[in-house]
Amino acid sequence: MKIAVLNEAANETRCAAIPETVKKFIALGAEVAVESGAGIAASIADADFEAAGAKLGSRNDTLKGAGVILCIQGPEPQLLKGVDKGALLVGALDPLKRRDLVNAYAAANIDALAMEWMPRITRAQSMDILSSQSNLAGYKAVVDAAAAYGRAFPMMMTAAGTVSPAKVFVMGVGVAGLQAIATAKRLGAQVSATDVRSATKEQIQSLGAKPIFVENVAGIEGEGAGGYATEMSPEYQKAQAELVSSHIAKQDIVVTTALIPGRPAPRLISDAQLATMRPGSVIMDLAAEAGGNVEGAISGERVVKHGVTIIGAANLVRSLAADASALFARNLYNFLSAFWDKEQGRPVLPDDDEIVKGIRLTRDGKVVHERLTAA
Ligand code: NAI
Repeated sequence: MKIAVLNEAANETRCAAIPETVKKFIALGAEVAVESGAGIAASIADADFEAAGAKLGSRNDTLKGAGVILCIQGPEPQLLKGVDKGALLVGALDPLKRRDLVNAYAAANIDALAMEWMPRITRAQSMDILSSQSNLAGYKAVVDAAAAYGRAFPMMMTAAGTVSPAKVFVMGVGVAGLQAIATAKRLGAQVSATDVRSATKEQIQSLGAKPIFVENVAGIEGEGAGGYATEMSPEYQKAQAELVSSHIAKQDIVVTTALIPGRPAPRLISDAQLATMRPGSVIMDLAAEAGGNVEGAISGERVVKHGVTIIGAANLVRSLAADASALFARNLYNFLSAFWDKEQGRPVLPDDDEIVKGIRLTRDGKVVHERLTAA
């Protein structure tokens, strides 16, 4: 069976395969074809793919006869012309925002699998692109915030006097938030963090940061289905706003990562709270693409309000293309190899499997995922 890897859209830097995963797919018995130049933005030369055993060529040659197409973003359907019926397309297909693409894949009889809908179960941890990419985003958020901050992060005692450590506050301690805490600690900052899920308190402490939590308000567990956050009660939201107000005025850097699946990102910082921060402070809003945790944050832009720089983070991982590609490519390999049927020499996806049910969007010319058919 042939696996194809195409050039991504012009705004993408990552590549859905790396030489290591090419070798592993070949060891499973697959053939791998890579479109020339597909890895360049991720620092992978065509020759590296060739050395791993891939065939390099034009898009048409790469796609011809492919049973699986690996991608980061879902390709425009016209790029997939000539693909065999029933081929699997596996990547971050953004099904809710790109419903048009999902329909087009169904019409072209391509079986589309959206990796971002991977269920959060132990068996699927190594296949989870949200985790692998969020982890890198949490790191990059702090590095970029440090670059935008006009002061140093660590405490420095010099002959000319002492530089005080930066105070970093992380709001939302999921995968990205945990990595943001760890990175800020490594850079020498004084770090505190908050979340609505009380289970994160221990995780914050284990990284050497200070937990800032709403106490004594009913229903503070904050944990819903699949380990994700739920929307909190008005009583909780009020208590959280008061807590944040008193804490935030003393912070230099705030990294917000709070998301609630299927809902706009919760508003955690108001304009009035921003105004209490010291000029020169930096806020990095990782939820900017989902509506923003911070009032006034604009996705992909940097704005200054009350002397505070607000960075609306967008696609941070694209600036870490080599590492982001490596982790994404391994997620794809871990998924496909888990379903690999040695006798048939290809992945076989049982309809009743929890993972398959979670990510399969189309089948036999139809859109089949219940989150799409119910809408
Ligand atoms: P996420 O990206 O959905 O949200 C980020 C964080 O924001 C979460 O910790 C959430 O609790 C927090 N948040 C939401 N509303 C908030 C508010 N109003 N104030 C403060 N914080 C708020 O979360 P992510 O990173 O996707 O992780 C969610 C959970 O899933 C974690 O427990 C993680 O360990 C778990 N997980 C499990 C996996 C598996 O078993 N395969 C894989 C990856 C994550």
